[in-house]
Formats: sequence, structure tokens, C-alpha cells
Amino acid sequence: MKRIVFALPGNEALAQYIGREPGARQGKLIVRAFPDGESYVRIADAVSGKEVILVCTLDRPDAKLLPLLFTARTMKEMGAKKITLVSPYLAYMRQDKRFKPGEAVTSLYFAGLLSSFSDELITIDPHLHRRRSLSEIYSIPCRVIHATSLIADYIRDHMPHALVVGPDSESEQWVSQVARGSGSPYIVLQKKRLGDTRVRISAPQVKKYRDHTPVLVDDIISTAHTMIETVSRLKKTGMPAPVCIGVHGIFSGTAYEELKAAGASDIVTCNSIPHASNKIDLNRLIAKALSK
Ligand code: R5P
Repeated sequence: MKRIVFALPGNEALAQYIGREPGARQGKLIVRAFPDGESYVRIADAVSGKEVILVCTLDRPDAKLLPLLFTARTMKEMGAKKITLVSPYLAYMRQDKRFKPGEAVTSLYFAGLLSSFSDELITIDPHLHRRRSLSEIYSIPCRVIHATSLIADYIRDHMPHALVVGPDSESEQWVSQVARGSGSPYIVLQKKRLGDTRVRISAPQVKKYRDHTPVLVDDIISTAHTMIETVSRLKKTGMPAPVCIGVHGIFSGTAYEELKAAGASDIVTCNSIPHASNKIDLNRLIAKALSK
């Protein structure tokens, strides 16, 4: 059975890549906004009895969720047999706990919503912190792809004398694997979050790595303040200017420019969220996961 791949707006490159794989083809989906801001959705291909792949990365998720839900619901009504949602970046993973009374545990509700209109989810390195796996909150099968080996290859090929630096203990899961894969040493710092855009990072102990190039690795770059604080800590050690690598580069507001201005010698991200900093291509990994 042929799988039909549909791109939600902004996801055309990955959908085209998947659509060129054997056993797949691309379908036509029209999504636009009415003058009043409401969404118009039309599926211009027959999907009855077919396996559908919906490609929609979920940074800035609030505006993307309704068109995605309307698309999936329409496809089900048209008789689609299975809907696989490919969301390289999975949003709403960080509010995984009620820190203050009355707060919404949004990771849980978001997972419930996606599970209500998809039959399967494929994503890249979701931010699992207090939860061990997506199955704790998603009721559909979830497949997680890891970008670590490609990041390790990138460091090995471009930065032979690297010291991999994790800005906080949460990053150790990626940093340790990336360091092992690239054959580099690594250190992990401590972070205290003081607010949405304020973090405090511990002083790095790097005496024996002075001649190495620090390569910061984190899963998400959002406001970039975690990276900015880490870069400024590292600058004080006299080490070469750091390279910053993020799996998912959200770059809210002027985050990218601020990180450059803070002294990062290069900013590298995977293409889970389309951005000028994308230098690590995940398309082949995603297509491979889908073909299994
Ligand atoms: C922490 O929970 C994550 O691993 C990232 O460190 C965090 O999301 C980065 O956020 P920001 O770029 O806003 O400092």
C-alpha cells in the first residue's frame, strides 16, 4: 500500500524527501487563513484506505495545532486508514509538572490532544526530563529518533579538538553520547533557572582543556539565554570562542542574533525546525524510521 505524505505549511522540504522514498508519494493539502484569521483546510487527494503521513514540526505550536487537527479529522472522515504524525520538534514537553498551585501541566494535555487525532507519532529527541518516555503521556505508539550520532559526526568532522559542554544536568543524556561518538571529552555544568529569560550557570572547571574548542550541546535553544550565559562563562576561562549546537533551534525573538553577539563562533542546529543555522540534516534518519 502506498503511503501518502502531506506537508503542513512550512514542512514542504521534509515531506518532499519522504514522498520520494519507495512506496510513498506526496499528496496535496491546502491550508490557508480566512480574512478573519480562521483556518481553511482542504485535502486535494483521495486518502480512503490509505496510510497517511502528516509532516508538521511543532515549534510555535499554538498556531499550528488547529490546522493540524482539522487536517487529521478531515482525513479520518475521508476514510484514512492510519495517520502517522511526523513532528521532528515536539512542543510542550517542558511544563511536565505543576510547579505552583493552579498551573496547567501542558505536556499532559498537549499529549492527549495529539493522541486524539493521530495513530502514531514520530519525533526527534523530545525533552524528556521528569518523564522517562513519551508513553507516560501519549496514548498512541511513539517512535523517538536520536540526533546524537549525527551531531557527534559533525563535531568529529569539523572540530577535531573539541570539549563538549553540557549547560545543565538535563543535557548530560545528549552530551555524554555526543562526546563518546565524536571521541571528545565532556563536562556538564549546573544551571539554575531564575525566570523565562534568566538563568545562572556554574563556573566551568576547564584547566586541563584550555587548548580545546568548547562545543556547547543542548536539546533546545529557545531564548538562547542558557547558551549565552554558558558562552560568557567560558569566555572568562581564556578558551577559544565556543561553538553552540542545538538539536532544536527555536530562537524566539532575537535569540539567534543575541547568541552571536555574545561571542559564539558558530551556531549549528539540526533541521528539525527550519532555520538559517541548520547544518545537520535529519531527513534521512526520519525517512529510514518511516520505512521500518
Ligand atoms: C532545558 O530545560 C532545556 O534543555 C534547554 O536548556 C532550554 O530549553 C533552553 O532554553 P533557553 O534557550 O530559553 O535558555
